[in-house]
Amino acid sequence: MTVHQIKPFYFDITDDEIEYFLSESEKILRSGTLILGKHTAEFEKAFAEYVGTRYAIAVNSGSSGLEILLRLRKVEGTTVLVPTNTNFATVAAVIRAGGQVQYLDMDEGTFAPSLEMVQKAVEGGSSSQDTTISGVLWVHIGGVISPEFPQVVEYCHQRGLFVLEDTAHAHGSRIKGVSAGNLGDGAAFSFFPTKVMTTFEGGMVTVNDEEDDYIARSLRNQGKRGMDYGGLHTDFGNSTRITEINALFGRIQLKKLPDMLKRRQRAYELISALLREAGIKFVSTDHMDVASQYKLIVHLPAGKTVKEVKTALAQEGIFLGGTVYEIPCHQQPVFAGICPGQSFPSAEQWCPNHICPPLTSGMTEAEAQRVGEALTRHLYTN
Ligand SMILES: Cc1ncc(COP(=O)(O)O)c(C=O)c1O
Repeated sequence: MTVHQIKPFYFDITDDEIEYFLSESEKILRSGTLILGKHTAEFEKAFAEYVGTRYAIAVNSGSSGLEILLRLRKVEGTTVLVPTNTNFATVAAVIRAGGQVQYLDMDEGTFAPSLEMVQKAVEGGSSSQDTTISGVLWVHIGGVISPEFPQVVEYCHQRGLFVLEDTAHAHGSRIKGVSAGNLGDGAAFSFFPTKVMTTFEGGMVTVNDEEDDYIARSLRNQGKRGMDYGGLHTDFGNSTRITEINALFGRIQLKKLPDMLKRRQRAYELISALLREAGIKFVSTDHMDVASQYKLIVHLPAGKTVKEVKTALAQEGIFLGGTVYEIPCHQQPVFAGICPGQSFPSAEQWCPNHICPPLTSGMTEAEAQRVGEALTRHLYTN
């Protein structure tokens, strides 16, 4: 008997959407407007409305969006606080924008730093003698907005520090009536194919300040300001525009995002109810108005290894998704020079000891139930 497989990724697209995409793509090709056209403008407008910000600027990746944000805040020659538990791109963006990275550890309840960790770092000052701390680049890991995040923003603002959001995982996440991407001083989303919505490759910067919008548009277009696409380069930008084809696809995905999130939420509820019943720890999103449910983060009980659980689930046809993250940035070889010898105990404990079960908008209730039951069987230790 072949076992029905449950996979960690699902490309959410219907036949009607494919047909619409093809016919609109043909119009783009025939128009000859391949960048900075009506699809980019419409995608930006709809995304800003969805997040609740005044402006949204589409770019070619989440990584370039983060670099733009950091350049807007002029981090060159300053220290930026960044969680060690994040993707390579968060740390790399600070370095590319000329800043120095100082890591924050994570709280096991959210997989993000705690307010206390931020306070200690700010009060301790920059670990580098030549720079001062300019702000925090926060990451809503797995789409989970820490219940302390609004206080982190308040605390930093009182001290003249900025708070930027890496919202690569958090499309649609919302807390106390405010969406991720509108909680700090600017945000960068990723539309990489594994994210909750995709443009194949792509990203979006969201800001509320008019000058930030103006300069961000310049930074994505080789530093050319305003609508002058001539030969004058005022800012140290890059070629990080989105294409019209990607923006068209983004419009299609954004329209169905609320529906995709509802389906992910239903799967989260079914799986997490079984975990809770069995006393298995996981990162809850119950304090949020809406969660993207990009990842359900399940703590591995003592005595279990990721390898054995992964193998046992695969034998039942259930395939685990990537974790967030297996190796914290302070242990990545590429960043070896940043904080030699420093340790971040919570990240070191939980990065290698958590799993992320499949959780997609394409999952049926029966599949979610099957995942929850299998997890409780393989993780239960009493
Ligand atoms: C937390 C985080 N930040 C930034 C990025 C970078 O996004 P992109 O791959 O679109 O450049 C990613 C994506 O992989 C991510 O997971």
